[in-house]
Amino acid sequence: MEKEQIIFPNDFVWGAATSSYQIEGAWDKDDKGESIWDRFSHTSGKVENGENGDTACDHYYRWQDDIEIMRDLNLQAYRFSISWPRVIPEGRGKVNQAGIDFYSRLVDGLLEAGIAPYVTLYHWDLPQMLEDQGGWPDRMIVDAFTAYADVVTRALGDRVKNWITLNEPWVSAFVGYFEGRHAPGIQNISAALAAAHHLLLAHGQAVPVVRQNSPDGRVGIVLNLTPMDPASSSIADYKQTVWRDGFINRWFLDPLAGRGYPQDMVEGHGLGLPFLKPGDYDTMIAPTDFLGVNYYTRKIIRAADIPEEENEPVAVMRGEPITEMDWEVYPHGLYQTLGRLHFDYRIPEILITENGAAFPDTVDPDGEVRDPLRLEYIKRHLAAAYRAIEIGVPVKGYFVWSLFDNFEWGFGYRPRFGIVHVDFGTQKRTPKHSAIWYRNIIEQNGFIVKKN
Ligand code: FCB
Repeated sequence: MEKEQIIFPNDFVWGAATSSYQIEGAWDKDDKGESIWDRFSHTSGKVENGENGDTACDHYYRWQDDIEIMRDLNLQAYRFSISWPRVIPEGRGKVNQAGIDFYSRLVDGLLEAGIAPYVTLYHWDLPQMLEDQGGWPDRMIVDAFTAYADVVTRALGDRVKNWITLNEPWVSAFVGYFEGRHAPGIQNISAALAAAHHLLLAHGQAVPVVRQNSPDGRVGIVLNLTPMDPASSSIADYKQTVWRDGFINRWFLDPLAGRGYPQDMVEGHGLGLPFLKPGDYDTMIAPTDFLGVNYYTRKIIRAADIPEEENEPVAVMRGEPITEMDWEVYPHGLYQTLGRLHFDYRIPEILITENGAAFPDTVDPDGEVRDPLRLEYIKRHLAAAYRAIEIGVPVKGYFVWSLFDNFEWGFGYRPRFGIVHVDFGTQKRTPKHSAIWYRNIIEQNGFIVKKN
């Protein structure tokens, strides 16, 4: 079999990602305020097995050891998020210096280790006090977020050079306020649409503030993008596919690209845009330096309302593994997504800010964690990213999700996404085989694949 060397561009950035609520723990320490995820996970029936992020990976106390792990893995970049209620416990007003100090020390530690911090300002842990005042569906949140972004970027803007305003606003808005599977657990489409609007506005209003406080910094937003394929050639399945694509992908891509909300979707929702004020579209398109893409799987769309598990047979028929999340392994979807961003939206720079897979890993008696399925998943997605680069798509970096096994939202600790295994009883960290492989990939800036 022929072999091919895949070598990434010299300036390609290799990293790993986490988020505050999923790893930090210390949920009520050092004057941190309550977040909507604290409230949600402490409410019975919301998270599998009643689990919560009270301790998580205990990263708030173990960050120094964790930086050592990152250093050992050759990571060039680390994407993490700031907990808004740790920095401003009530969401607005008084700043908690202990919170600022934690992130400031973390940033210094990373820089000393030669690791570039990529900081996400919002990865879903809204201060509960702000939710009590209306949360993302209320327009007051836009100024609150901007003030918070100002506080953080003033404190860290001299050292952090890469900023992300929001992680996956679709999930914040639609899983939090429409499906209700995430905090704050509301089920109201009008609220979700308003939330989405205020997220986009908050992003746009914060961008110039970030730039002012971090003059040589770069800033972008992270979207979850999911390619959709119809289950059959029927018109009904096709129409439903266009709708789902509009619902998840175009609702955010279009306004960010200056096209406004997609007309077919506005008509489809049939609720108008009561939250849209003159000038809002202009605020949203504040120029950014990159778009972050989180890619995990595709969706097969059927017009008939049947459960998502129905995706499974398609993957099985194709001989593909299914992840612990029941997601089909579909690297080609990453190539499609990257191509679309380049050819349809002309995005000047793309970072893959999350990509990875959960499998039920175990520590073998010899202490090793063998995770060939994850290794293969990452490798094939990197190969897909490389193919996109070959056709001219400006993909500049890759962050594996996740550095650690962590609190996977509504699923608790069951899905293990880490390249580093965490024993949640002892907090022992063990780099999995995928992590050791990833370290070599970083060192060689690529790898060898078999050509068919
Ligand atoms: C993404 C989230 C991240 C993690 C992965 C599996 O939607 O940004 O926090 O939960 O999915």
